[in-house]
Amino acid sequence: MKQKLIEAAKKVSKNAYVPYSGFQVGAALLTESGKIFTGCNVENSSYGLTNCAERTAIFKAVSEGETKFTELVIFSNTNELFYPCGACRQVISEFSSDLKITVVSLTDELETNIAELLPHSFNLDK
Ligand code: THU
Repeated sequence: MKQKLIEAAKKVSKNAYVPYSGFQVGAALLTESGKIFTGCNVENSSYGLTNCAERTAIFKAVSEGETKFTELVIFSNTNELFYPCGACRQVISEFSSDLKITVVSLTDELETNIAELLPHSFNLDK
């Protein structure tokens, strides 16, 4: 499954709309029900409106009725490994307290989880 998610994240990164940064990111999210949702980053000339790849994938899944996730792969089209930004960590933690996350570059990959990336996160009891 991990390999399938990596391939999906790489493929969707090609759709990244990045005229400002040129930094292509793709994310692939696996739901508990076994579906894969993908997302890329979408930039805007009003820079702050940019949506990261991870959040695109999560919002697509939630809008299709899926809120339970087991695994997320984030691919950056670079030689260096990049981790999700703070905003994405908070959005991930809204839905999953033990999500497995793999960050992937052109040359490397590393597995971590949301508890490690965002300890002591802010979550209201649901
Ligand atoms: N970006 C992501 O897609 N995910 C992250 O976690 C960090 C940053 C995107 C946003 C922007 O399009 C580009 O990378 C440079 O910041």
